[in-house]
Amino acid sequence: MQKRKLQMSEGWLTQYQRSIDDNATFWAKKSEIIDWIKPWNTVTSGSFQEGNVKWFEEGILNVSYNCVDRHLSKYADRIAFYWEGDNPKHSQALSYQALYDRVNRFANVLKTLGVKKGDVVCIYLPMIVEAPVAMLACARIGAVHSVIFGGFSPVAIADRVNDAKCTFIITADGGYRGGKSIPLKTNVDEAIKNCPTVEKVLVVEHAHNINNWNDKIDVHYYKLAQQVDVFCPIEPMNAEDPLFILYTSGSTGKPKGVVHTTAGYLVYAATTHKQIFDLKDGDVYWCTADVGWITGHSYVIYGPLANATTNVLFEGVPSYPQKSRFFDVVDKYKVNIFYTAPTAIRALQAEGDDAVLANTKRDSLRILGTVGEPINREAWHWYHDKVGKGKCSIVDTWWQTETGGVMISPDHTQYQKPGSAMYPFWGIEPAILDKNTANELKGALTAHDYGAIVIKRPWPGMMRTLWGDHKRYMDSYFNVYLGYYFPGDGAYRDKDGHYWISGRLDDVISIAGHRIGTAEIESVIDSHEAVAETAVVGIPDAIKGEVIYAYVILEKGITPSELLKQDIMEWVRKTYGPIASIKVIQWVPMLPKTRSGKIMRRILRKIAHFEEQQIGDTSTLADANCVKNLIANRSDYRIVKKGSQ
Ligand code: WTA
Repeated sequence: MQKRKLQMSEGWLTQYQRSIDDNATFWAKKSEIIDWIKPWNTVTSGSFQEGNVKWFEEGILNVSYNCVDRHLSKYADRIAFYWEGDNPKHSQALSYQALYDRVNRFANVLKTLGVKKGDVVCIYLPMIVEAPVAMLACARIGAVHSVIFGGFSPVAIADRVNDAKCTFIITADGGYRGGKSIPLKTNVDEAIKNCPTVEKVLVVEHAHNINNWNDKIDVHYYKLAQQVDVFCPIEPMNAEDPLFILYTSGSTGKPKGVVHTTAGYLVYAATTHKQIFDLKDGDVYWCTADVGWITGHSYVIYGPLANATTNVLFEGVPSYPQKSRFFDVVDKYKVNIFYTAPTAIRALQAEGDDAVLANTKRDSLRILGTVGEPINREAWHWYHDKVGKGKCSIVDTWWQTETGGVMISPDHTQYQKPGSAMYPFWGIEPAILDKNTANELKGALTAHDYGAIVIKRPWPGMMRTLWGDHKRYMDSYFNVYLGYYFPGDGAYRDKDGHYWISGRLDDVISIAGHRIGTAEIESVIDSHEAVAETAVVGIPDAIKGEVIYAYVILEKGITPSELLKQDIMEWVRKTYGPIASIKVIQWVPMLPKTRSGKIMRRILRKIAHFEEQQIGDTSTLADANCVKNLIANRSDYRIVKKGSQ
């Protein structure tokens, strides 16, 4: 246990108690963190059971105004973004005044194209300044953005664009990551062949890499930007109007379009950002997440900008062109607060301290955050002892796309336990339920008797629905354990009352902190012409947390081969995107199914994890011999990995 700071922070705990005892008054006060055009009357209404939660209901505001305009009187010259390109020779500093100018222009370009309040605009951009600018421009005119991560493939883009019926896509002529160029516009061209609703594609020039231009659809951003007015008035929005949709993976079926609204989301993102990262006036803050994920929305854009923070926006990857790149950037901008994912920490740790740390100082760092997956003790200690030289607080923040902001996190003023997310944030009331009986587990628990973590009452930052599918919203999150929000994770609470997240309880795999649904990957593998049926499970990986182990039945007459394995792996990279990394393919003649035809994934997981002693009851299997066959032909990936370490 880390005992560096043993004084207890009255502030945090007292405020927590108040937030639970009188939740409405607490959030009423916190809503002052943003500026309102017209104040709200009702703090909150609705319930989990009814699926109709609202916050600050009658309030009118604009998010773009709150993130940019209102700072100008005091901080016009303060840097909003230090942009650092993939190539270290490329950088840019954008003041709040400059950000204001760009957002206004971008908003007018959108209006010129015909974008109106309530339209859903897809954004598929690299980590360039125009990514936050485009998001804030949408918010300025009341359009709902749906950002798609730049690593997604044309098929994944088309699925998301079609689900939201987007008419407009904003992209770039290319991006760079680790010295490689990413063909964003080409991916959009490919995707929209299957997107009947798309009318215009707005192309931001960045990589000067266009080989296909369609005058009927494509619009050159910079050309149009020169022709529009420099000022665009803000659209007054209701507190509960949607601000954005962000697609995330569920355990079954197509991705879910998580909908966040205007006021509650912004209040929650700003409050959590300020408190958890101990934000001080003038701090330089760097969250390394891509804007394509929720961390990029809440803690690169909305939370930090609402708090007038100076941010670093980084286009590249942690170890390009040299292994020390992350910390070279920390030194270059004198970053005080640094927020990244355990997978990046583990990858850097594996490169060795000489390459990653020796030539950097990191003296400016004060708070180090992690997000996306549990952080193992070894990585935690490296982060704390080596990266932070034992002087920084570590905040291991647990939350989700659906929660809008951090739900459980250590308090930076108290000691931190490696691997534990520790305390619920203000207003968050978690409980641990027995997975089977749904009874609340009250006392101290251990890693072996974890339960399902649930949340007992609404909070401002929670999603309000799934785009176009409120029933799925209710069934996935509120009808599992009635009266509670169910995030899908397992957790336990130790004898000190600290929370430990043990991982997903459902069929979602977390690869390098990215959520990937087994059903999504299976349908991509199944679409390969040689494949008849597939089941995938996650297996542990030293760097990425988890990778995919796929059991594949080939079509009749197809001969299995190493070449075919490579071809299927490449197919998944191309069709889904490079984040879906398949480590192992095992050819199988059949899958373990119940008599009603349901795949018993539990069995497949145990086999891939070399835990067949724990398979348990197989009496419901249609063919009991199936398991023996799977074990006999199992991949020795784990053994190879151990031997090579
Ligand atoms: C996992 C990312 C352990 C968890 C913000 C959750 C974590 C899912 C942590 C959400 C953490 C996130 N410790 N697990 N500190 N943070 N997770 O929607 O399983 O991309 O349900 O949001 O990541 O992933 P998402």
